[in-house]
Amino acid sequence: MLFEPFSFGGLNLKNRIVRSATYEKRADEDGFVTGALIEFYEDIAKGGVGLIISGGILVHPSGRVAPQMLCIHNDFYIDKLKRLTDAVHNLGGTILTQVVHGGRQSLPALLGGEQPVAPSPVFDPSTRITPRAMDDQEIWEVIESFGNAARRATYAGFDGVQLQAAHGYLVNEFLSPHTNIRDDYWGGDEERRFHFVEEVYRAIRREAGEGYPVLIKMNADDFIEGGLGAEESVRIAKRLADMGVCAFEVSGGMYESGNKTVRTEILKPEQEAYFRSAAGLFKRDLLVPVMLVGGMRSRPVMEEVLFKGDADLISLSRPLVREPDLPHKMAQGKEKADCISCNGCMRFNKLDVVRCTQLKP
Ligand SMILES: Cc1cc2nc3c(=O)[nH]c(=O)nc-3n(C[C@H](O)[C@H](O)[C@H](O)COP(=O)(O)O)c2cc1C
Repeated sequence: MLFEPFSFGGLNLKNRIVRSATYEKRADEDGFVTGALIEFYEDIAKGGVGLIISGGILVHPSGRVAPQMLCIHNDFYIDKLKRLTDAVHNLGGTILTQVVHGGRQSLPALLGGEQPVAPSPVFDPSTRITPRAMDDQEIWEVIESFGNAARRATYAGFDGVQLQAAHGYLVNEFLSPHTNIRDDYWGGDEERRFHFVEEVYRAIRREAGEGYPVLIKMNADDFIEGGLGAEESVRIAKRLADMGVCAFEVSGGMYESGNKTVRTEILKPEQEAYFRSAAGLFKRDLLVPVMLVGGMRSRPVMEEVLFKGDADLISLSRPLVREPDLPHKMAQGKEKADCISCNGCMRFNKLDVVRCTQLKP
């Protein structure tokens, strides 16, 4: 099934393998597309993946999470982003961009020393940062910035956008009862915690137009006591699907939950596909496609996930950092990715670009 074409939301994919959003560290210091970034995506497109999702792209300067990340918070970025999408389209590829605001996980060093913003001032033990609660005006400004980013994504030729609502970034922070302890329109109970993602989706839809593919990456579980869990996540997803979200990528974890999102020690098939049961819950209750991400390394596991109906699409990050041509290799009979899940590619600070540290540069 892995190499069967798959269509949804107006997208026609040549197979069911997705390149999950992966920060590249190949934009310039100001977040513009570079030649190195285009070459990087050309390699992925040539490698045969059905759908590419770019690394998180910054919608508002207050949400910066990493140096040299892609930016889309100003019209100036459009021209060079168009060169990126043209390059991928010329190779027959399909590319979405992942719109993100880092919230409390944004880094003060990248914000000119400013305190990161979030729904509530909840201390993050992983970064040792207590963010500043956003006021109503700031919340609406960031909502508009997601809409403006989506409009620019259409001008830049992206085939759709994926909203980053997982991994402890701003949208996840509004959804999670752990990070959102407000008592106003934006928080206080499940209904009010939903309002931020609801308004962000509306802004995106308004600016990008009817029919433009809008996907969401969500946490099935924050893996934090008092955080978002699978039952509520599925309820949220159902509401968003009714509003028009055309696919969900199921993930989990925040910075402070430790090594949950990008796990190591994936040595046996049983350790692969670590959000599989959560994705199955989404599949059970949703009519739109579900993408599973996290730890898939061998073709038999991927095929089984699809065959058993736990997901419709297989999303890969680290395996494609190591082998951008993995889809082609698997189509020709390769059974298992070379990626050993060492997370060397995640030591961004020490690397000039995100790359596999098992291979010679
Ligand atoms: C180097 C690196 C950068 C990542 N950047 C992003 C990102 O920009 N947005 C996102 O949603 N997830 C990001 N992730 C998480 C992946 O998309 C994926 O959820 C996770 O790595 C698990 O999948 P895997 O086992 O196939 O690597 C990143 C992961 C890695 C290793």
